Amino acid sequence: MPTPDLLDPKKEHSLVLVKPDGFARGLTGEVLRRIEAKGYVLKGLKIKKATPELLDRHYVEHKEKHFFQDLVDYMSSGPVVAIVVEGDRVIEGVRSLMGNTNPTLAAPGTIRGDLGRDWGTGNVENIVHGSDSPLSAHREINLWFPELMWDEEADSK
Ligand code: RTP
Ligand code: MG
Repeated sequence: MPTPDLLDPKKEHSLVLVKPDGFARGLTGEVLRRIEAKGYVLKGLKIKKATPELLDRHYVEHKEKHFFQDLVDYMSSGPVVAIVVEGDRVIEGVRSLMGNTNPTLAAPGTIRGDLGRDWGTGNVENIVHGSDSPLSAHREINLWFPELMWDEEADSK
């Protein structure tokens, strides 16, 4: 019998974060509800206060962007809920559920469109993160859930 929280390398996974604004506003359940209602399966879940070091690695592609320091401040301002989600085309699917990065532009019906806040200063509080590619998902899950020990060899088969 396989260990329940081990990831099936034949399935697609996404690393979702309920960001500090979402957690503080009590929206974790709402985010989980939408993900589960869509038919995706939760494979890992934890509350964690992200260190700047972890965020440096998580958002490595944004390190040289002008908003990087604001992003790290925002993401380390309180606990986040980290979730591993499994399902067919889950990466794309979660991105659809999340909506546009900017809550003003995000369509109604999406998490960011319904619940996110745009402070009009370039800073947005957009509730959730979702991996944007299989490569990112792999990197991010290993970062946030090293205990799941994703088998890289099996994954590339
Ligand atoms: P995420 O990585 O958090 O899922 O969001 P995303 O893919 O929709 O957007 P991305 O371009 O990866 O940006 C990461 C996060 O950085 C903040 N951001 N601020 N001030 C700005 O111009 C700006 N651009 C991005 C947002 O919190 C965004 O979610
Ligand atoms: Mg992103």
